[in-house]
Amino acid sequence: RVLILDYGSQYTHLITRRIRSLSVFSLCINGTSSLNSITELNPHVIILSGGPHSVHADGAPCFPYGFIEYVEKERIHVLGICYGLQLLVQKLGGVVKIGEKHEYGRMDIEVNKNNDKGLFGNKEIGDKQIVWMSHGDEAVKLPQGFEVVARSNQGAVAAIENRERRFYGLQYHPEVTHSVEGMDTLRHFLFDICGVTADWNMEDVLEEEIKVVKAMVGPEDHVICALSGGVDSTVAATLVHKAIGDRLHCVFVDNGLLRYKEQERVMATFESDLHLPVTCIDATEEFLSKLKGVTEPEMKRKIIGKEFINIFDIFAHDLEKKVGKKPTYLVQGTLYPDVIESCPPPGSGRTHSHTIKSHHNVGGLPKDMKLKLIEPLKLLFKDEVRALGRIMNIPVAFLNRHPFPGPGLAVRIPGDVTAGNSLDVLRQVDEIFIQSIKDAGIYDEIWQAFAVFLPVKTVGVQGDQRTHSHAVALRAVTSQDGMTADWYYFDFKFLDDVSRKICNSVRGVNRVLLDITSKPPSTIEWE
Ligand code: XMP
Repeated sequence: RVLILDYGSQYTHLITRRIRSLSVFSLCINGTSSLNSITELNPHVIILSGGPHSVHADGAPCFPYGFIEYVEKERIHVLGICYGLQLLVQKLGGVVKIGEKHEYGRMDIEVNKNNDKGLFGNKEIGDKQIVWMSHGDEAVKLPQGFEVVARSNQGAVAAIENRERRFYGLQYHPEVTHSVEGMDTLRHFLFDICGVTADWNMEDVLEEEIKVVKAMVGPEDHVICALSGGVDSTVAATLVHKAIGDRLHCVFVDNGLLRYKEQERVMATFESDLHLPVTCIDATEEFLSKLKGVTEPEMKRKIIGKEFINIFDIFAHDLEKKVGKKPTYLVQGTLYPDVIESCPPPGSGRTHSHTIKSHHNVGGLPKDMKLKLIEPLKLLFKDEVRALGRIMNIPVAFLNRHPFPGPGLAVRIPGDVTAGNSLDVLRQVDEIFIQSIKDAGIYDEIWQAFAVFLPVKTVGVQGDQRTHSHAVALRAVTSQDGMTADWYYFDFKFLDDVSRKICNSVRGVNRVLLDITSKPPSTIEWE
C-alpha cells in the first residue's frame, strides 16, 4: 500500500484518488503523525505531499524523528512532491532557499531520460513536458548522492532522485491534469521503480468489509441505522445487511419535508430492490407542528435536528422492547474525505469537516444508548462508494441521485415552512424541474438541482385573469464536493419549456426565476 503524508496541499486527496485509480490502495494521514502511526500501516511506498508552508517557517510541518532511518531500513521508496521534495532536501543535508522567481501555473520542464530505473525512465514519455508548478522556495543545493533529473525552463530544479537510497522528488504536481504526463510518471514510479502491483478492487473491498463487520458484531448484537434516502447511508446499510442479515434494523423518517413521492420511492428501493429491513416512521405532524411560525434559518435547523434525535430515540427504545436487548451498534455512512478532514494539517486552510458536519448532520446519537459505530465506508471516496453500490446491485439511478440536505425542503422555503400550501407547491415545481432535467439527459452533469419557494406574491395574468401568486426560483449547480459551486448554464429553450410547464400546471405560481449565483458568495441552499 501507498501511504501519503499530508502537509496541507489542496491536492492531497487528489493524489490518493489518482493512485487508487491505478488499482493501488492508498491512504492519507497527517504528515506530522508519529512514527508508530506510520509503521503500523506497513506502507510499501510513502509520498510526502505538497503544502502551503516554507520549510524555513517556524513550526513548518515535518515527518517524525527516526523517519529517514525507518524508510531506509525497510527499503521503502519515498517520493516528495513540491513541499515534500523541499522537506527531503533540507532534512537530508541540502539547501532550500526562498525562490527569487516564483513558479506558479503551467511550466515547461526538460527531463533526463537516461536511466530506465529513474523517474523519467519510461520510454513513452517525452523529454520536454508541460507541468503544473506552485511554489516559492526552491532546492538550490542537493544532498549528497542526489541528482537533478529535470529542470524548469527558468533553470529551477524540477525533479531529483537518489536511486540507491530510494528517495525521489518532483517539484511540480504530477497528480493534476495540467501536468500532461504526470500520471504516466506516477505509474512508472509505482509499478516500474517501486514494484507495486495493481490488485486493489471493489470486489475485494466489499468482501473485506463484510468480514470486518461480521467479526465486530457478536451473534447476539443488534445494529441500527438511520437511512436518509441518500447514497452513503444506503450503501453502508446494504453492506452491513449482507454481513449480519436481519439483526440490522433500519429506520427511515418522513419528516414532512421530503420531495415529491420521496417516501414511496425510496421505500420501494429499500424493500423491493435491496430487501433491507426498514421501519418507515411518518413524523410529519411532529416536525411541522414544531416548525410552525419559525422563520429564523438556524432555529429551523436546530428544531429539525432535535426532532430527528427524538424520533430515533423512540425507534431504538421500541426495538429494545421488541428484541429484548439494547442495540449495540450504529451504522454511519461516513466517507474518507470526512476522516481526512477531521484532522487537516494546521495552516492548510482546508476546512475542518467536523465543523461543517455538526451544522449539516441532522442525525445524531440517541442520548443514553452509548452505541458503538460501524463505518464501513470510512476509507472510501464517493465514486468508490458508488462502485461498491453497483456491485451490490443498488440501482444506478439511485446511486447517481443528487445530494439532498437533512433539513429537506425547510431550507428551500425561506421563512415559515408551514405557511399556506408552500410545501405542496414546492414539491410539484421541483418535480417538474427535475423530471425535465432527466428528460434532457443532463441530470448527471449537474451536482444538484432543485426549486425554491419564494415567500412573495407577484401579479400575473393567466388565462384572461389577473393573478396574485407566488414566485419560485430554480437552482442548479456544478461542483466537485459542494464546498464551492458554479451555476449551471442551461440552454434558453430548456428554461423556456420548464418555466411554461411550471406556470401552466402548478396552481399558485405565476413567475419563475433562475438563480445565477455561484458559491461563494451564495451557498447552494437558500438557508
Ligand atoms: P450549502 O448550502 O452549505 O450546501 O452550500 C452544501 C451542500 O451541503 C448540503 N447541505 C446539507 N446536507 N444537512 C445535510 O445533510 C444539512 O443541514 C445541509 N445543508 C446543506 C447541500 O444540499 C449541498 O449539497
